[in-house]
Amino acid sequence: MSAPTVERVEMIGIVKRFPGVLANDRVDLEVQRGEILALLGENGAGKSTLMKILYGMQPADEGEIRLNGQPLHLRSPSDAIRHGIGMIHQHFMLVPSLTVAENVALGLPSGRGGRLDLTPIMRGIQALSERYNLKVDPRAYVWQLSVGEQQRVEIIKALYRNAGVLIMDEPTAVLTPQEVDDLFKILRQMTADGHAIIFISHKLHEVLAISDRIMVLRDGRAVGSLPTTQATREILARLMVGREVSLRVAHEAMEVGQVRLRVEQLNALNARRLPALRDVSLEVRGGEILGVAGVSGNGQRELAEVIAGLRPLTSGKVYLDEADLTQASVAERIAAGFSYIPEERMRDGAIKTFSVAENAILQTHTRPPIAQRGMINFRAVRQMTGDLITRFNVKTPSQSTPLRNLSGGNIQKLILARELSRNPHVLLAAQPTRGVDIGATMYIHRVLLDQRAHGTAILLISEDLEEILALSDRIAVIYEGQIMGILPRAEATAEKLGLLMAGSL
Ligand SMILES: Nc1ncnc2c1ncn2[C@@H]1O[C@H](COP(=O)(O)OP(=O)(O)O)[C@@H](O)[C@H]1O
Ligand SMILES: [Mg+2]
Repeated sequence: MSAPTVERVEMIGIVKRFPGVLANDRVDLEVQRGEILALLGENGAGKSTLMKILYGMQPADEGEIRLNGQPLHLRSPSDAIRHGIGMIHQHFMLVPSLTVAENVALGLPSGRGGRLDLTPIMRGIQALSERYNLKVDPRAYVWQLSVGEQQRVEIIKALYRNAGVLIMDEPTAVLTPQEVDDLFKILRQMTADGHAIIFISHKLHEVLAISDRIMVLRDGRAVGSLPTTQATREILARLMVGREVSLRVAHEAMEVGQVRLRVEQLNALNARRLPALRDVSLEVRGGEILGVAGVSGNGQRELAEVIAGLRPLTSGKVYLDEADLTQASVAERIAAGFSYIPEERMRDGAIKTFSVAENAILQTHTRPPIAQRGMINFRAVRQMTGDLITRFNVKTPSQSTPLRNLSGGNIQKLILARELSRNPHVLLAAQPTRGVDIGATMYIHRVLLDQRAHGTAILLISEDLEEILALSDRIAVIYEGQIMGILPRAEATAEKLGLLMAGSL
């Protein structure tokens, strides 16, 4: 492989409009050879859009790209690749039924007779995997590989095409902490060899750990760019959110009460009718937060749905305050003191065409004070909604605004408000802060800890290990539908949890 020929990439005055959204608003960006630039921003800030423009996937409405000082016109990703710009997407683009070598070969010009000789490609993969410690077997089929290995194949593929600039869109979202460490070592070796990397993330600690420079996007605009040595979590959070954010929540030791939620030997199938949960047994006591950690797709969704009564069990038992609710309907669970903050909040937790007020009374609309003699008491609705909006700091123009007009964080706060207003005995919170800005995240964390102090048993399912570590009293790790271990807070380090998350005992 020859050394990268990219000295400098610039994006100048990039504007990109989608119907109703200004996704990029006159954004300037620059990255140099040997440098890791972090592109930081909340969900929807415009990071992927900007990088898809740099990768030739979509045209900018205005602005210019320059490579080594020369204007560059990109009509497609193959154009970008030809100029040494590579990108690894949030969702990998490998073909599972092909081998690693075949995937690397895909799209390369073929030899005589349309046949591609894989021998030099195998050799190239070997050389790259030695140079960068990218351990993969070139003969393995992609479907056999772990997510971390698939990511390494994507990196090899880009390096094989001699990517001088490598764009990585949220590459750590699917990795265990150890895999993140490995990835960071690979990235450092790459920059030492003269590659430039654009690393997209919304996680402050990662950006601080790996980058040389940080650029923050908010609502499509570049709101700050600074050397990582000058950045702190507080500075970055303020830039991302646009206001002061307190990043600390106090987790105080608490007296725990009796067991309020108990699940025994849960087994269930996923949407493809394959086993998703295998003999999952857990207990949560009043005043306790039990965190369930794991890499995405290891049964978390099914576990939440089974406990909420939205997915059938093949076997197992669910008890709430020692009452057997295994066969109970959703409504019966709610009546027994169960509350649920679903991961798919627009599908399972709210109705986006309904107003804020209508969403606030979902599930309580059949009971007093909302329902009186079979009629809805609108004054009670207004009062209750107003109260929830104030107490939970929900930003909405009015109670009659359709829910879809609110930001993700405010929708989540409204659902949280509604679910907690019932004073639940058991609260199941599934990915409660996914897609929510840091300000709202910190607020939700505080609310969960308050609820714990009120004696609620909280089952927190989250793929965000920082969140799990900040809130949980005990931490269970789920891997391929099995609980690999349960650690008390004091013993739970990212390292230990990471090993369990990777399936090793
Ligand atoms: N193809 C598209 N069509 C319409 N809107 C889009 C499209 N892609 C992105 N957007 C919108 O542009 C904004 C920025 O999105 P994106 O670049 O994906 O943000 P990020 O990667 O920072 O989360 C969002 O409001 C998003 O909904
Ligand atoms: Mg994105």
